[in-house]
Amino acid sequence: MKEILVTGGAGYIGSHVVKMLAKRGFVPIVLDSLENGFADFVKGHELIMGDIGDYGLLTNIFRKRKIECVMNFASYIAVGESVEFPLKYYLNNVAKTCELFRAMIECNVKRFIFSSTAAVYGYPTRVPIDEESPLAPINPYGRTKFMIEQVLRDLDEAYGMKFIALRYFNAAGADPSGEIGESHTPETHLIPLVLRSILDDNYVLTVFGTDYNTPDGTCIRDYIHVNDLADAHVLALEKLLGKGESTVYNLGNGRGFTVMEVIQTVKRVTGKEPKVTNGPRRAGDPDVLVASSTKAMKELGWKPSMADLETIVETAWRWEKQRKRKGW
Ligand code: UFG
Repeated sequence: MKEILVTGGAGYIGSHVVKMLAKRGFVPIVLDSLENGFADFVKGHELIMGDIGDYGLLTNIFRKRKIECVMNFASYIAVGESVEFPLKYYLNNVAKTCELFRAMIECNVKRFIFSSTAAVYGYPTRVPIDEESPLAPINPYGRTKFMIEQVLRDLDEAYGMKFIALRYFNAAGADPSGEIGESHTPETHLIPLVLRSILDDNYVLTVFGTDYNTPDGTCIRDYIHVNDLADAHVLALEKLLGKGESTVYNLGNGRGFTVMEVIQTVKRVTGKEPKVTNGPRRAGDPDVLVASSTKAMKELGWKPSMADLETIVETAWRWEKQRKRKGW
């Protein structure tokens, strides 16, 4: 069975990928500092506690094990924080990730799956956004992901490192089991915060801007279920193992929802009234971000199976209730 190193595998998206890898016959080995991850999210899988910038640890793992491919989820992800503390982002998402690459090249591990983001497109010039759209990130977070995509191209050229970069749109939802899900501190994402406004008496969701150029004035985003993302990672892995060439794919459902529509969906699914107030725009939010994922569908045979926003919210709701019970 093929061993796959999943760095940041104890986090939100990583843990869903770990679960899917095991289901599809791979052996995930998780490397996580547990700074933002949870050992409980990868119960039953091998977990090595450590940092992607630890060259010695990584070369040790690569020499002892036969790692076929590395998937890296060990990134900081908060756009606002990246504006305030850019060095934190450049050090972890770029410099430490390069240390990981250095260890990979040293040990002849030459397949990599990269978590990229819609943020590499900045304010899009056309919607839906395809992979040929201009790359023009507008914040440090997006720039770190853009930079690593460039680094990967150079590593392919110089050392034959084959990579697939997956540009996620809005990852959302949780594994239907309710065992793993989204847990960020602080949480900045819309769906968990709308749910929080129902579960927490003291929390009111602020809608960031109601004067966007959209039908109800709130931003449109393309929400994609985390297990559909996980499925795309396994398909991308199978492509790379089958001698696939380096490339990039957008991952989204191709359908956008406004913030108001998300709030209405939460209300329908939970049967409860979210507590909401209108506020000013958040800096750096484009009006509309919707993916064209035609390339991933054609080349990977990817087809989202939980594309419906109600299903996405339902699974997120199941997780939120579960984690509240468990005190996570
Ligand atoms: N929003 C609110 N109130 C909140 C939180 C969010 O109104 O309390 C709005 C945002 O303004 C945005 C939408 O809900 O219009 C979605 O916001 P999220 O923060 O959930 O997600 P983003 O679209 O900002 O971010 C996502 C990923 C980022 C990535 C970005 C690419 O989470 O990692 O897409 O643009 F960088």
